[in-house]
Amino acid sequence: MADTFYVTTPIYYVNDKPHIGHAYTSMAADTLARWHRSLGEDVWLLTGTDEHGLKIEQAARASGVTPQQHADRYSQRFRDLWPVLDVAYDDFIRTTEPRHEQVVAAMWERMEAAGDIYLGQYEGWYSVGDEAYFTEDELVDGKAPSGHEVSWVVEPSYFFRLSKYGPALLEHFEKHPEFVRPVTRLNEIKRFVEQGLQDISISRTTFSWGVQAPGTDDHVVYVWLDALTNYISALGGPAGEQYARYWPASVHLIGKDILRFHAVYWPCFLMSAGLPLPRQVFAHGWWTIDGQKMSKTLGNVVDPIDMAQRYGADAFRYFLLREVTFGSDGDFSERALRDRINGDLANGLGNLLNRTLGMLKRYRGGVVPAPGASGAEDEALLAAWGTARADLLSAMDDLAFNKALAAIWTLVGAGDKYVDSTAPWTLAKQGADARLDTVLYNLIETLRVIGVWTLAFLPNKAADVLDRLGVPADLRDVPSTAEWARLPTGGDTTVGDPLFPRLEAPEASEAPAPKKPAKQPKAPKQKQAQQPKPSAKKAEAPADGTIAYDDFAKLQLRVARVVTAERHPDADRLLKLTVDAGEPEHRTVCAGIAEAYAPDDLVGRTVVLLANLAPRKIRGVMSQGMLLAAGDGADIQLATVPGDLPPGTAIS
Ligand code: MSP
Repeated sequence: MADTFYVTTPIYYVNDKPHIGHAYTSMAADTLARWHRSLGEDVWLLTGTDEHGLKIEQAARASGVTPQQHADRYSQRFRDLWPVLDVAYDDFIRTTEPRHEQVVAAMWERMEAAGDIYLGQYEGWYSVGDEAYFTEDELVDGKAPSGHEVSWVVEPSYFFRLSKYGPALLEHFEKHPEFVRPVTRLNEIKRFVEQGLQDISISRTTFSWGVQAPGTDDHVVYVWLDALTNYISALGGPAGEQYARYWPASVHLIGKDILRFHAVYWPCFLMSAGLPLPRQVFAHGWWTIDGQKMSKTLGNVVDPIDMAQRYGADAFRYFLLREVTFGSDGDFSERALRDRINGDLANGLGNLLNRTLGMLKRYRGGVVPAPGASGAEDEALLAAWGTARADLLSAMDDLAFNKALAAIWTLVGAGDKYVDSTAPWTLAKQGADARLDTVLYNLIETLRVIGVWTLAFLPNKAADVLDRLGVPADLRDVPSTAEWARLPTGGDTTVGDPLFPRLEAPEASEAPAPKKPAKQPKAPKQKQAQQPKPSAKKAEAPADGTIAYDDFAKLQLRVARVVTAERHPDADRLLKLTVDAGEPEHRTVCAGIAEAYAPDDLVGRTVVLLANLAPRKIRGVMSQGMLLAAGDGADIQLATVPGDLPPGTAIS
């Protein structure tokens, strides 16, 4: 029987539109689920919605609907979101479903039978925003630590003997140090438990939107006892078939703000009920947006649907999992997202795929050739594959998604290097056919391995890569990448469109160039000081003579109009022109066109100016740019644009 892997997300409150925080946990859970499925494990991914409690009751009242209507509406939003983000859950639990409520009641009864529930009176501070109780000491400036308002509550309440379980919990932490991750969170929780646990109130009487506590008329079960139970109610409860198969959970993925509920309350409830504890609780960090806390008031809430529509769900997921260590806080910005897309995805993976498939088509009609003998370059590539594989497997065991992706991208880099060092275009010219076959085969196999490894992170794009390579279904799982050269020869491949089209800088597409004159380039302090340098990055300068789009995009080509023209005082072949390029001041430009044009013929002409060429003194005249022209000598023709475009219009 295959190993089982049961992963859960928090169940989300139905009082909010889904945002980046919800998307983050769920996409991480889905990535983990896909990875373990690919390893051949029997995987179960659970998500759902948390629908009870005062917070929801109040939200429903505010919108003039019943709590159930409110819950139905908001729960559906989450259900609709997951397919957009390719989160392929196995079950979606709602806490208002009878199958859940029954198990909550059963949990209560088990805890009661263990002698752990007693009736008392609750007196203290309650935060509806957190659905949590706070002691006087815990309040910060009279509010909950989260900033939510608190109110003084006095009511009869059932209590759970949390205090009884402190020592057992600490012992559990000792025996299973992997129970809470990251380690810093484990230490934080240990310190909290070591200070001594207080019994907690687990029922409320002042509202009714919840599961009725068994054996009572007017108590509803505390929303966290209700909510946490979802992890077993969805499996049919302790007597369920699914429970026997999947419990204990492999990992509960949560945000750091709800760690105490998962790492203290939940294990204690389970111990009391006589049920095994989950194997791990992993708390991830929080995202800020452009350096600020995400909030409705600031209007900076990131909508995952918008992100998926504009950048693709794969790229959005890639960014979230690549940008920060899972467990640490991170900052989201569209700029950083675009940089990752252009850098890692377009220039990195996309470019390697495109070059490889392009060469395969050119040299072998797109058919995968049979490899021959290996050389030193091949050995280096294989060594890179071995290292990347080992690093990837261990990173995934630790839920270190960013390290896993970095490991995969070392193989992308090794693939690029392999192309550069083997220079297939030279092999083709030399007619070194056997060697060329080996090189092309190894490149295709490299891409197959990368495609398989990225399936969990880029579910659509990676499948697209494997489709283009013609990889059969049985060579798409992680174990099939443990051995090199599994891909059969003779298969057909397809080049296709760029996998990740490069994104232009938003400024370039949004700013209408003519209305927004560019700044005058400053005169260089030293000659040559501002000469554009060739790009140092390998990935941006493919060895087949093409240039990366990013390099092209550095050129500022503009429509300009000739205002004055005269012969250069010190050079027969040059004219000295002043041109209007849509800027406050005209520019002086020297052009080697004196043999073809009389100065007077040029005034009023529309020309094409390379506007960001570093200024240069040409025979004593400072030239601020260059005019484009075709031909030379007496046959030279200035490049122009048809129509009546205003000076300054960008040419791209
Ligand atoms: N209903 C409870 C969970 C019950 S689980 C038995 C709940 N729901 S929630 O909808 O408020 O939050 C769900 C998750 O979103 C939490 O894990 C929280 O950490 C996460 N996030 C909310 N804002 C976030 C960010 N800005 N960044 C990352 N995650 C964040 O809590």
